[in-house]
Amino acid sequence: MSDIEHLRSLIRTIPDFPQEGIIFRDIFPVFQDPKAIEMLVSHIVNHINVTIKEKIDVIVGLDARGFLFGPMVALRLNAAFVPSRKKGKLPGKTICAEFKKEYGVDTFEMQVDAIKPGQNVIIVDDLIATGGTAAAAGQLVEKSGGKLLEYIFLIELVDLNGV
Ligand code: PRP
Ligand code: ADE
Ligand code: MG
Repeated sequence: MSDIEHLRSLIRTIPDFPQEGIIFRDIFPVFQDPKAIEMLVSHIVNHINVTIKEKIDVIVGLDARGFLFGPMVALRLNAAFVPSRKKGKLPGKTICAEFKKEYGVDTFEMQVDAIKPGQNVIIVDDLIATGGTAAAAGQLVEKSGGKLLEYIFLIELVDLNGV
């Protein structure tokens, strides 16, 4: 079995969570398997090293599931980790962006000085559905003056046409 097949086999599908009609993809079983964690992080880091020439300064992880592996990727790239958090959790001065996702609305915040103007940034999250979550984080990176080079997800729900 290839690494990708192994990772795919660990993702659980739960119908009607958190609302009726949503087919929920649960990535937590990946984190119960240390070999799978290693595969996941190595694949992401290799992908970045092969496709991006610039030095990555910052990995932005999206609250909450992007926090599970974003710091591991940042460590391997000798980059900073910056969180995009749900509203009301970050101290100090923040910037914010509201968004719609597959099952509801939310607001992200980022500390104003966490990303320096001109820094090369990659956003990571577990999954893209409608793309609302990722787009809001992208707005915060751009508002901070960061250069957003790429978004990385473990899963794309293609039928939802994330943008
Ligand atoms: C989930 C998922 C993505 C987002 C994708 O986060 O982890 O971040 O939805 O949806 P979208 O592409 O339609 O915007 P959620 O906020 O539901 O939960 P979490 O806090 O567990 O990450
Ligand atoms: N976030 C948005 N849609 C999702 C889904 N179907 N499964 C898991 N996380 C999600
Ligand atoms: Mg999330």
